[in-house]
Amino acid sequence: MSDRVLVFDTTLRDGEQSPGVRLSLEEKLEIGRQLEKLGVDIIEAGFPISSPGDFASVNMLATELRDVTICGLTRAREKDIEVAAEALAPARRRRIHTGLGVSDNHLMHKLRMTREEALETGVKAVRCARQFTDDVEYFMEDSGRADLDYVYKVVEEVIKAGATTINVPDTTGYTYPNEYYHLIKGIIENVPNSDMAVFSCHCHNDLGMATANTLAGVMAGARQVEVTVNGIGERAGNTALEEVVMALHIRKDKFEVTTRLDTTQLIPTSRMVSRLTGMVVQRNKAVVGANAYAHSSGIHQDGVLKERSTYEIIDPLLVGAEKSEIILTARSGRHGLKHRLAEIGFAFSDERFEEIYTDFLKLADTKKEVDEDDLRILVR
Ligand code: KIV
Ligand code: ZN
Repeated sequence: MSDRVLVFDTTLRDGEQSPGVRLSLEEKLEIGRQLEKLGVDIIEAGFPISSPGDFASVNMLATELRDVTICGLTRAREKDIEVAAEALAPARRRRIHTGLGVSDNHLMHKLRMTREEALETGVKAVRCARQFTDDVEYFMEDSGRADLDYVYKVVEEVIKAGATTINVPDTTGYTYPNEYYHLIKGIIENVPNSDMAVFSCHCHNDLGMATANTLAGVMAGARQVEVTVNGIGERAGNTALEEVVMALHIRKDKFEVTTRLDTTQLIPTSRMVSRLTGMVVQRNKAVVGANAYAHSSGIHQDGVLKERSTYEIIDPLLVGAEKSEIILTARSGRHGLKHRLAEIGFAFSDERFEEIYTDFLKLADTKKEVDEDDLRILVR
């Protein structure tokens, strides 16, 4: 099994499905260029048949970006696939992503098909897509709630029909890590031709487990992760790209896999996507949040100032942040205050410093944060 995990970014497709987000063509190109710089392997640029705007964005990224595979989503319908193929035509490397539901819930309530009819429709769609490209991904929507024997059957047949990547979406964010692990492992072990395809994790965050589920899928042998920047997406969102990439990097002792991403581009990418989509990143968001490398309590500040690794497992420089930050609050101690004063050029005798520290604590009790201007006034 390969030790490379492919990063399939769907910020511009599933991410753009976030309520309230609408990106212009120029904005999509700006994000696409940044994703290429970040080093993702595949960009899902849109759903070409869904609107002229989506067709144009897939077509534009297929024309402009040369170092990444461009992918277009389709339903399992001939017309969708033909339109996607047309949009993708200029791409140096193109992928068609087709498929349909596998859970009884989706078959009965949404597709109104029997299992057999859905299987036949899926196989036909894969054969059709293969006329346009050798790179065909098949999604089994709502795999997380589907009958396992049926999932195995679908995987076997769509691989026979020519699918090269099999997407196993937990569309509703229903599964938990151990369950998603066994879903992927079960497919790999029970489907006779599973060695002919790459398995892909596509998780949603309805119960806050998208990242954990995706990582469990990688542990089980999946070698592609479908993610969005800042975890944006339908409802509670998709798996966050930055979380998975950094978890694989920081815990390579356990996962033993790599991605080809330039992690120093993670924060610039996160900021760009937040600015263009208007989706604010919570301050305490893992990896890219404003507080992710900030320390405010005296005990933590003392530790970090002596040795960063006491309270930080990620070097902020590795993700493109400037440095760790010491934030002065009522919980800060002498070490933190001395450090911040030194940063702006002040050093004092022990006696004088104690006076300033006493005044600092009084001021800090009245404010959320004591900033540089406050420090200058205190000293004066
Ligand atoms: O969540 C999902 O099932 C999807 C598919 C369309 C891939 O986004
Ligand atoms: Zn999805």
